[in-house]
Amino acid sequence: MAERVGILVISYGSRACGMIDALSRSGDYEVHFYVADRQRNPYNLRHADAHVVIPDLDVQRIRDFVDAHRDEIDFGICCPEKPIIEGVRDVVERDTGVAMICPTKRYAIEASKVSQRLMLAECCPEANPRFKVFRRSEYERGSEELRRALWEFLDELDSEVALKPDEPAAGKGVGVWGEHFRSREELYEYFISIFRSSDVVVEEKLKGEESSFQAFCDGRRVVPVPDTRDYKRAFDYDMGQNTGGMGSYKDTKDWLPFMERHDRDEEERMVQKIFNALVGGGDRGDELRGMPFYVAFMHTRDGAKILEINSRPGDPEILNVLPVLKSDPVELCFRLIEGNLSPSSVECEPKATVVTYAVPMDYGGYRERYSGDRKVDLSGAYRLKERYGDSLRIYPGSMELRSDGNTYALGSRAVCSVGIGESIEDARAISLDGIRNIDGALWNRWDIGASHHIARSVRRMKELRS
Ligand code: AMP
Ligand code: GLY
Repeated sequence: MAERVGILVISYGSRACGMIDALSRSGDYEVHFYVADRQRNPYNLRHADAHVVIPDLDVQRIRDFVDAHRDEIDFGICCPEKPIIEGVRDVVERDTGVAMICPTKRYAIEASKVSQRLMLAECCPEANPRFKVFRRSEYERGSEELRRALWEFLDELDSEVALKPDEPAAGKGVGVWGEHFRSREELYEYFISIFRSSDVVVEEKLKGEESSFQAFCDGRRVVPVPDTRDYKRAFDYDMGQNTGGMGSYKDTKDWLPFMERHDRDEEERMVQKIFNALVGGGDRGDELRGMPFYVAFMHTRDGAKILEINSRPGDPEILNVLPVLKSDPVELCFRLIEGNLSPSSVECEPKATVVTYAVPMDYGGYRERYSGDRKVDLSGAYRLKERYGDSLRIYPGSMELRSDGNTYALGSRAVCSVGIGESIEDARAISLDGIRNIDGALWNRWDIGASHHIARSVRRMKELRS
């Protein structure tokens, strides 16, 4: 008989549904879920033994929920960054004894872009673009001195820069020259709007193609999963504002079509260097448990550069990986906790996957406002199971089950459709079929994993390298 295991899942968006789906397919364990959720997510409600709504994912309230079920829960998983940064692992482990899969507060590297750049300057300088930190403690906002220092650095880089707030802004805080501002005055306005509440990193604008690298870590070893490509911009052809990610694809191998094996090797080498530096030969590695290295890389003429490091799985990127994980996912969790992770615990099928998100009308600048019905019916998409079996997964994210029995889109990415196939093209066709069968006022990008988009990446990379 399968062994019972109780798992706490701290949920924000479709990523948690993907986790629950993967874990519930375990061959060796009978899994029971205890979900701390932002809202009444219909998928989570259907799968949870116990479910609590904590809209701000407050750490103390999560702790109380775990405490109430401490005899039934074997371990917990946290994916969203906010509770990790606020120390959910430290608090839950200290107060309830339930082991958590996520880094401790000390190792939530994602908390500060300034610290990331400074750390990389020490341990992996080749991953950094040229950068300068503007601290609020050093410059008065609007002062001549600030403007002079900024202008001096802009002269060095010919104004070709990206501006970033120190704190995470869900991929939406970054401003890039030529896209978000086209003159120094516009740049200065953007800069000041961030500087009002945060230190700012000003860095060289990098030209190249992006990849998302994700790795599991048990504190002793870093074991990567295949690379994925996130589509950050709202609209087709990478137009529009940055979003949390409108979709992503994964190829059949560990790297992306515009990369070579040596690019992937370079990513792995860099992340290993960061891990070594963080652990520093000490015994603190365990605090990095989880997915402390979800690294956004830019592949440039001068090799791979790091855009940012997150301390959690990517949304949507982890949804490209979980459905094709060959190893037992519960076993993987135990290995993470016990510190005996090995490459064979994270093996994936050589399949391609495409994730496409459907989002509400007022997301990503598609409409200024939307006052119509927000009801969304997923039953048509679920019915496609008859045609596609396990090759299609539908995961509601920012959706809510209400007392009238219907489900509604809230403000963020509403639902994603994951297609799994022998090629990116096959996977994309399935993903888009899922999207077309969702009934509701939502929109989506149509070019996630499209051959013309991939061909453009391949072409650009070739040009950069020639
Ligand atoms: P981040 O939140 O740092 O991942 O940045 C969000 C997006 O801004 C990235 O996916 C890139 O498209 C863009 N970006 C960030 N940093 C740079 C940079 N130094 N040069 C060019 N684009 C950047
Ligand atoms: N895909 C962007 C993120 O998870 O931050």
